[in-house]
Amino acid sequence: MALEKSLVLFPLLVLVLLVLEWVPPTLGKESAANKFQRQHMDSSGSSGISPTYCNEMMRRRNMTKGHCKPVNTFVHESLVDVQAVCTQENVSCKNGQTNCYQSRSNMHITDCRLTRGSKYPNCAYKTSQKERHIIVACEGNPYVPVHFDASVEEST
Ligand SMILES: *[C@@H]1O[C@H](CO)[C@@H](O)[C@H](O)[C@H]1NC(C)=O
Ligand SMILES: *[C@@H]1O[C@H](CO)[C@@H](O)[C@H](O)[C@H]1NC(C)=O
Repeated sequence: MALEKSLVLFPLLVLVLLVLEWVPPTLGKESAANKFQRQHMDSSGSSGISPTYCNEMMRRRNMTKGHCKPVNTFVHESLVDVQAVCTQENVSCKNGQTNCYQSRSNMHITDCRLTRGSKYPNCAYKTSQKERHIIVACEGNPYVPVHFDASVEEST
């Protein structure tokens, strides 16, 4: 009887341990703040950006998995400077939400746009360097950027 019980309990225990082991990677899903950094931050500077920058970076930052993300912007400023935008001018987001903020100063950015005729898995991008005010949506505590909304030429 005792043996029978342990024969049932042991697999159960193994199962519980497996679940405990496997749940964290699932729960450890990338946070919105980290996703913003993966998709939009490249603080390594804006000089020496080549015409193939977007082809390389879009792949390296996992935005060409499953499909080619059609447009994406990288910001070449320090993380603290980009996070500080959450304390700057409160503007409305393209989707009508009110938690967007526009940077007080111009920032160095690179816009990546999928070229016409580019077909997954060969994602080919046009690389355009610009200096723009950026607009990001912020959330959470700490209040940090979670979405890149737009870039604009002039302060609005
Ligand atoms: C891209 O995905 C791979 C595999 O899923 C992962 O190991 C890697 O850390 C990811 N890269 C970035 C920049 O998140
Ligand atoms: C931003 O402005 C909108 C109205 O324009 C307001 O409803 C919202 O509360 C403001 N957000 C913050 C965090 O101040």
